Amino acid sequence: MPLSPGPEADADRFVLVASLDNARNLSNLLKAVHFRDQVTVFASANGIRVTAEAAKSVQGNAFIQLRFCRAPGQGSGPGSEASSRNLTFTVGVSALLLFDEKSQCLRRLLQQSEPGVVGEAVSAAIDAGYRHIDGAYSYQNETEVGAAVKRKIDEGVVTRENLFIVSKLWCTFHAPVDVKPSLMETLSALQLTYLDLYLIHFPVGFQKVLGELFPVRDNNMLVSEIDYVDTWKAMEALVDEGLVKSIGVSNFNVSQLQRLLSVARIIPAVNQVELHPYLTQPELVEFCSSRDITVTAFSPLGSPGRIQSKVNDSADPKDLLKDPVVKVIAEKHRKSPAQVLLRFHVQRNIATIPKSVSPARIRENAEIFDFELMEEDLQSLLALNKNWRVCQLNMLQGHRFYPFKDS
Ligand SMILES: NC(=O)c1ccc[n+]([C@@H]2O[C@H](COP(=O)([O-])OP(=O)(O)OC[C@H]3O[C@@H](n4cnc5c(N)ncnc54)[C@H](OP(=O)(O)O)[C@@H]3O)[C@@H](O)[C@H]2O)c1
Repeated sequence: MPLSPGPEADADRFVLVASLDNARNLSNLLKAVHFRDQVTVFASANGIRVTAEAAKSVQGNAFIQLRFCRAPGQGSGPGSEASSRNLTFTVGVSALLLFDEKSQCLRRLLQQSEPGVVGEAVSAAIDAGYRHIDGAYSYQNETEVGAAVKRKIDEGVVTRENLFIVSKLWCTFHAPVDVKPSLMETLSALQLTYLDLYLIHFPVGFQKVLGELFPVRDNNMLVSEIDYVDTWKAMEALVDEGLVKSIGVSNFNVSQLQRLLSVARIIPAVNQVELHPYLTQPELVEFCSSRDITVTAFSPLGSPGRIQSKVNDSADPKDLLKDPVVKVIAEKHRKSPAQVLLRFHVQRNIATIPKSVSPARIRENAEIFDFELMEEDLQSLLALNKNWRVCQLNMLQGHRFYPFKDS
């Protein structure tokens, strides 16, 4: 479908008609309007309206937040918000995109699967023997995850007690008063009475703006100054109430953990952080292990489907899955590069949470308990470290709780 301004186009707001089959279309669309500050897009194929909000950010990049909305009269979903400007109902942020003005291309920051896909992936994962399901409020798919889990429990494939279900408190809910309501929303979406683990997703809080995961105004992220220590106290109360079996954090650095440990009544069970051979974080791993904090490795494959954060860095890393060192080790053990990258964590006593929506890859990623990496393999993989991060959230760099200042 050709991309052209629709009848409602005006000076500061463009309405365009497009089929949003893929991000390339959207990229073309945004280029077509020379990337104005606000763009409203109608996806005419399914009657879903998509609102894109954009804000220029550091280094000539622009962050674009897409929100899927039902057209008026089509009802609302959980967490819906009537928007006075559009008379639509927000049903969830679908993607956070980054428009790199230098290269004139649009890249995905927040990777989220299309509706229906995640439920199928959860079912395939449970069938393949996975029992640890890592989710988050911000992934905006907990209803679908919960329905798939319930189906598998109803089918007798698994019991609730055999599952380890994790969610994360989003940055807009760091105020102690918001912690329990946010958990209750998550539990309701997941159709569960308790979580096995609840994490503070990120140490920096954002201001609470209805329906917005990444509230941006005047080209700035609306951060809050809420101290994660105060948030933690509200998390501890959830354990006392039996609503979560354990609590932990995510993306915390060593000094933030130290600060938390100095006041915590309940020690964080887990710190979930980005970890793979290009980002080995030896000090953080060592610190966590010395304090009995389990490390969970996210983006263990280097998150190949996601935008690489260092878009302006000429030293952009090559694809970790195609790294020659990883490839040679994989060939030696007759395994795939992904299996080597996952086994790397297992042998270091680190939990890992690869993401896939492909049933074949979901099975492949679980078949890592029938071989062993040799010490020399582990050392070769550790030697690949280049302190390279996929998840950097550069726009938060100026905040006192931004955790990645040293890397
Ligand atoms: N706490 C946090 O702040 C945070 C941040 C990021 C991620 N996470 C968690 O960590 C999970 C994984 O991270 P991630 O999605 O960023 O990165 P990842 O697991 O390293 O990579 C996922 C990508 O790898 C592909 N893939 C999966 N298995 C593969 C295989 N065997 N061979 C080749 N490609 C394969 C997937 O594609 P297909 O789906 O097409 O197979 C997908 O594009 C997330 O789902 C989330 O639960 C947490």
